[in-house]
Amino acid sequence: MCGIVGYVGTENAVDVIISSLKKLEYRGYDSAGVTILNGDLETYKTVGKISELEKIIPAGFTGHIGIGHTRWATHGKPETRNSHPHLSSNIAVVHNGIIENYMFLKEKLMEQGYEFVSDTDTEVIAHLLHRTMKDSERCSLLDAVRHIMTEIEGSYAIAVLCTDEPDHIVLARKDSPLVIGLGDKGYFAASDVPAFLRYTRNAVYVNDKELVLISPKGVEFYNNDGQRIEKQVDIIEWNEEAAEKAGYEHFMLKEIHEQPTSIQATYAGKISELEGRVILDELKMDEDQLRNLQRVTIIACGTSWNAGCVGKYLFENLAGIHTDIETASEFRYGDPILCGQVFTLAITQSGETADTLAAIRSSRSYGCKAASITNVVGSTITRETDSVLFTRAGPEIGVAATKTFTAQLIVLYLMAIHIGTVRGRLTPETARDILVGIKQLPGQVQKILNNKDAIKKCAEHYAKVQDYFFIGRHLNYPISLEGALKLKEISYIHAEGYAAGELKHGPLALISSATPVVAIATKGHTYDKVLSNIKEVKARSAEVIAVANESDTEINKYVDRVLRIPDCHELLSPVLSSVVLQLLAYYTALARDCSIDKPRNLAKSVTVE
Ligand code: AGP
Repeated sequence: MCGIVGYVGTENAVDVIISSLKKLEYRGYDSAGVTILNGDLETYKTVGKISELEKIIPAGFTGHIGIGHTRWATHGKPETRNSHPHLSSNIAVVHNGIIENYMFLKEKLMEQGYEFVSDTDTEVIAHLLHRTMKDSERCSLLDAVRHIMTEIEGSYAIAVLCTDEPDHIVLARKDSPLVIGLGDKGYFAASDVPAFLRYTRNAVYVNDKELVLISPKGVEFYNNDGQRIEKQVDIIEWNEEAAEKAGYEHFMLKEIHEQPTSIQATYAGKISELEGRVILDELKMDEDQLRNLQRVTIIACGTSWNAGCVGKYLFENLAGIHTDIETASEFRYGDPILCGQVFTLAITQSGETADTLAAIRSSRSYGCKAASITNVVGSTITRETDSVLFTRAGPEIGVAATKTFTAQLIVLYLMAIHIGTVRGRLTPETARDILVGIKQLPGQVQKILNNKDAIKKCAEHYAKVQDYFFIGRHLNYPISLEGALKLKEISYIHAEGYAAGELKHGPLALISSATPVVAIATKGHTYDKVLSNIKEVKARSAEVIAVANESDTEINKYVDRVLRIPDCHELLSPVLSSVVLQLLAYYTALARDCSIDKPRNLAKSVTVE
């Protein structure tokens, strides 16, 4: 996730772009840049926040047409050369999204003599546009953008300047947001409305495959065939703060709703459905190394640890490798039995958790190969591990991890399927079944979000209780831990996640009519066993809330409430169930009037022991 902006008008474009970028910093803040078209393209860019960019812009730098960018690194570290705008001779581009086939395009462009100065996917867009306009003398910038949209695959919102056409900006989008602002003193383009709300409330949302040309004379919209189209103008009612959260009351709720996109972005370009295989070039281990692997040790904390527990089941089931899951703060002071054949995997959203970093360093001292799953390009863990697999969830502001958790699960599925295929444990047909299922997840998550009212009602009904239990078996056991953790951290209700079969070994003594039990009872090989556990707690007067599949009509007989997830492959239900539990925690905390985005005593990134 990054933020792009563009401005054409009578105001000083530098000031407008800087103030607009500041409003988009929630989308990314590891580097920033601006290009103003004053006859030539004048570009300033730097690593860091917008305030760092302001420091390097010389006094008196002005203009009336320009583009800007605030970056959340996906391809290439946060370095000045990887910051946007990216240039190709007389063309400047800012981009939000991921060009999935950029390596293929980059190789072709290099053969044609183009030199690349960055590691980004975006730079191919600049060179492709330059090549297209050079190859055909009468090709306008608008036509060139339309043309390259047939070559690039992936997601994008782009804004482009070209010195040959100095009075306008051309924009286009596919699967990344883009909105145009119509003001008295000019026209604005941005990834999100907060960017221009202080200038205008009149906005036009750009749809997929549409193009826009903004000039001092006005705004023109085009469809993919190059024909002019009319668009509706919306009046934005939100204030600036509400707009930053896209109208959601909290960042957490916004981030829960971003999961269809973050899941899709995380698997984008990595699934070959036809061949039934995963493309995981980031995992720097060849087939022999994967075949000879003896053991995987996953190291993490908190929610990332819960994702690691799911990973253990996946690696053992799909890849046939013995897998341990370790709590980083314990592992670092333990006496682990490790050797060169053990592969250690750190899972950390921030990439900065002190215990996880220390534990992974300790594992490497035994000669283990180490990989990491993280959401932050350039974070410390990326320098401490041999392979880095990124979740593409974009910045997560709410302290409670939501979209990064489901993105971690996606990476774990991809890894397990990849390793399982290489080791001959999975046939391409079995792999294909799961991969097809993964591609259905964004739509299925959206369905849960569309029906969230039932979850809200349930949360409100139980909002005053003091204790909650969450139970599940197999893959649903870590999801019960995650459901309990989410509820604890934001609603301050005491909650326990338990392996359903373990209840009778002690905690059953705590079950009463005052302790609602959330039973994750999705279809799978432990379903009947979970039904037995539900009966056990019902017999002790507990009210039971089941998380169950849509087609399961039997469950209603045994429980008080059912929260539904779409039918899916048994192994994939953790993604869907966790969205339900995130919403349950969110609406419970809301009903209790808690500080949802910044819960007491907690920090987003725990960089101390
Ligand atoms: C989850 O909601 C928490 N905020 C917390 O448990 C978090 O997952 C943990 O601190 C680990 O953080 P990391 O993923 O950045 O390493």
